[in-house]
Amino acid sequence: MTDEPRASSTRRFAFSAAHRYWVDEWPRGENERFFGRLTVPHGHNYTLDVTVRGPIDPQTGMVIDLAELKRIVGETVVDRFDHADLNADALFRGRVPTTENIAIAVWDLLVPKLGADRLWQVRVWEDPTLFVDYRGPDA
Ligand code: NI
Repeated sequence: MTDEPRASSTRRFAFSAAHRYWVDEWPRGENERFFGRLTVPHGHNYTLDVTVRGPIDPQTGMVIDLAELKRIVGETVVDRFDHADLNADALFRGRVPTTENIAIAVWDLLVPKLGADRLWQVRVWEDPTLFVDYRGPDA
């Protein structure tokens, strides 16, 4: 055990991506009734807040090397989703690319790199009026 103070630290990222809402198992009419205009491909400028937590390293004064966090999220998430068609990504095969499912996909991409003990929350903003938080399957 350690007496080091603990904290959470959040870094913000941005990516632009296209999607449409469509359930393959539903006929066109059902999709259009439920999702309306969201069945038409369109884009969003997403904001992604990745929060890690843990003891503050007494030497660096940080929960995580912020340059390392930036590199990991950049390579793992931003490079993959920026200017991408989310419906074409294997992560969304059989999963509607809603903000909820994007948050889960981001979590699933990051947890092997950051560790479940360090990754605390993924917050995905579709626009300034809508965000989703995900804290893993056990939260
Ligand atoms: Ni949309």
